[in-house]
Amino acid sequence: MKGIILAGGTGTRLKDLTKVTNKHLLPVYDKPMIYFPINTLKCADIDSILVVTDKRRTTDFLLLLGSGSDFGVRFTYALQESAKGIADALSKAKDFVNNDDVTVILGDNIIFGDIKELKEPLNKSCRIFLKKVEDPERFGIAYVKNGIITKIVEKPKQPKSNLAIIGLYQYKSNVFDIINNVKPSKRNELEITDVNKYFLDNDDIEYKIIDNDWIDAGTIESLFKANEMERKFKATDKYSY
Ligand code: DAU
Repeated sequence: MKGIILAGGTGTRLKDLTKVTNKHLLPVYDKPMIYFPINTLKCADIDSILVVTDKRRTTDFLLLLGSGSDFGVRFTYALQESAKGIADALSKAKDFVNNDDVTVILGDNIIFGDIKELKEPLNKSCRIFLKKVEDPERFGIAYVKNGIITKIVEKPKQPKSNLAIIGLYQYKSNVFDIINNVKPSKRNELEITDVNKYFLDNDDIEYKIIDNDWIDAGTIESLFKANEMERKFKATDKYSY
């Protein structure tokens, strides 16, 4: 299993905080944000990790992460020339992944504690992870009926499910063929939700509902909350690493 951290994008929702740096280098209490997805992959025993970054801050990522020896992993780096979407960023990992399975995590997703299901072999080409939330309109949402996903929608205005699709996905290597056939969305991005919808339409998707504390730190409010959570957990030694 290979690991991918997607750390491109523009971070516009963080306003001036991302004018001169990349969102994933910002601090979350005592660590740069990207340390959290690194830790999630490490907890799943994944030690070969590709970091996809935007071209403005490549040197900063190299300075911070280096070869990976400080983290007990091996880092490889790839560039996303412009922020054309999560699936576009993932497409940069094709050669790195080759025929292996892959775990993909969004660089602004902070998951406290490990997810043991990440180590389980894939039964389908795609596995997504769901978490019950109170603000489902902010996320990709899955509708589940009788233990089966019936629908996946990206940020619905009036969601009738509270199961958010977190930014953690596992795929077999055929995902890269699917991305090749995905069309840009209205906001001109290749959406990961469209990739996952393809697997749903082909009955080739499985899911796990997680109960870990999780936060997408991509907005001012949620970044602030992430800092508070990390500070609290650190003080109680709950998820220290
Ligand atoms: O956090 C979970 C949510 O993440 C999911 O529920 C949504 O289905 C999914 O679309 C995504 O939504 P966001 O609106 O939070 O995505 P955002 O544009 O903030 O991108 C999340 C990360 O993906 C970002 O931290 C870096 C990476 N990314 C994003 C884009 C658009 C890239 O590497 N390149 C990109 O072009």
